Amino acid sequence: MAGEKPSGSKSWQARLQASGDEATAALVASLDVDVALWKYDIVGSIAHAQMLSERGILLKEEFATIKAGLLAVADDLQAGRLAMPIELEDIHMVIEKALIERTGDVGKKLHTGRSRNDQVATDLRLWARDAADDLADLVRTLQQAFVHLAASNTTLVMPAYTHLQRAQPILAAHALLAYVEMLQRDRDRLADARARINVCPLGSGAVAGTSLPLDRDRTAELLGFAEITRNSIDATSDRDFLAELLFDCSLLAVHLSRWAEDWIIYSTTEFGMLELADAYCTSSSMMPQKKNADTLELIRAKSARAIADLMGMLTLLKGLPLAYNRDLQDDKRFAFATVDAMKQTLAVASGLVASTTFRPERIASDIDKGFLDATSLAEYLVSKNVPFRAAHHAAGTLVALAEREGKTLTQLPLSTFQLACPTVTPDVYDYLGAANVVKRYSPAGAAGEQQVREQVAFWREKLMEQMKESLYVSLNTPMKKTSKS
Ligand code: ARG
Repeated sequence: MAGEKPSGSKSWQARLQASGDEATAALVASLDVDVALWKYDIVGSIAHAQMLSERGILLKEEFATIKAGLLAVADDLQAGRLAMPIELEDIHMVIEKALIERTGDVGKKLHTGRSRNDQVATDLRLWARDAADDLADLVRTLQQAFVHLAASNTTLVMPAYTHLQRAQPILAAHALLAYVEMLQRDRDRLADARARINVCPLGSGAVAGTSLPLDRDRTAELLGFAEITRNSIDATSDRDFLAELLFDCSLLAVHLSRWAEDWIIYSTTEFGMLELADAYCTSSSMMPQKKNADTLELIRAKSARAIADLMGMLTLLKGLPLAYNRDLQDDKRFAFATVDAMKQTLAVASGLVASTTFRPERIASDIDKGFLDATSLAEYLVSKNVPFRAAHHAAGTLVALAEREGKTLTQLPLSTFQLACPTVTPDVYDYLGAANVVKRYSPAGAAGEQQVREQVAFWREKLMEQMKESLYVSLNTPMKKTSKS
């Protein structure tokens, strides 16, 4: 095999004698993965050629031929008609070869003043920009699903847990809106990363730039980049933006896995708080009664994918000498896998949240278990001028006593309260029982009705505004217009 020339010839390798064997060709190739970049590569190439023609490096007619050729190649790619021998290594060479086949010598001018190094960095940034936008939109849709579910559960009282032990009563909406907060930080991070992604490396060449008079600002403008990179060495070898995107995905995935874990637990027979729609569950091949929350479990599992890919990316970058090294070709394997997984996960998550219902009767029937009102009792005593530490001690004593007698705090007679603390009056019962407790939450951000209503109103307005903004951005980004037309 070695020494045999494989079918796809590498026109850009005049210096080298022989191509390697099949295994080597497969190792060197990234086509199986970077084919996903084809739209970005076409758009990037058209912008580059347009800039070359505006600078007089290409004739206007040559640009027209190249543009028409690239669009025809795009049609072939869209239709799956383009041959892709892996000897061509990557999607960039596949597209260039197809262009040259169509346009001859004119097509051979496309790569003027460009290297695959700045080309692939540009394509990746265009891809990452879309990925960040798409993910942010999907996260927003998930937030909206949570807010919608929260809006219909602003009076349902349920337990909050710390250490997975019953802690204090809350309104169900408050727990749902906790996830909305996490997801907002995920979106803020994606927006923040987008600013660092949205910088154009095109024109940096292989490592040092070029002697040709390129107009880098123009290419950047055509591709909707906010600015251009300052240093060609860094620009061609920087993949920080991918590592950052993967970190953002990882933390998002961690949030989703925490939520999935909560709902897996809440939907068990033991907790019985949630009813998941059948569409998001699977049964067992042996146990006919089973309704397993498999989708939630797989959502939880996707955090492994994201975290592993983040580790992979950082490990890939660690110790690379300046500037471009072929190691960087494998960056896409990490980035694409995680972004695909997150998109799939988010889409399913939104449907799952939208179709889930609480089980109010079951929650109500268990709500008096676990002394959720013990903190409220201590705070009642504080209102009677008992120092908090003493109040805490008295409430703890009363809980222990009630537990021994198999009673709730509400079921204890006034005399028992007065034994523990003589200042207790009959109004103590207004502070006991989960429903009474949630009425009393005072500060901003607490789990009471007023605060929950405010949060729902806040998120409804904010998410609606952000949905409009995102629509506006996608209608006004030059790159998005180009790729759709
Ligand atoms: N497929 C390669 C990548 O993704 C393209 C760059 C190859 N550059 C080179 N100097 N060999 O990184």
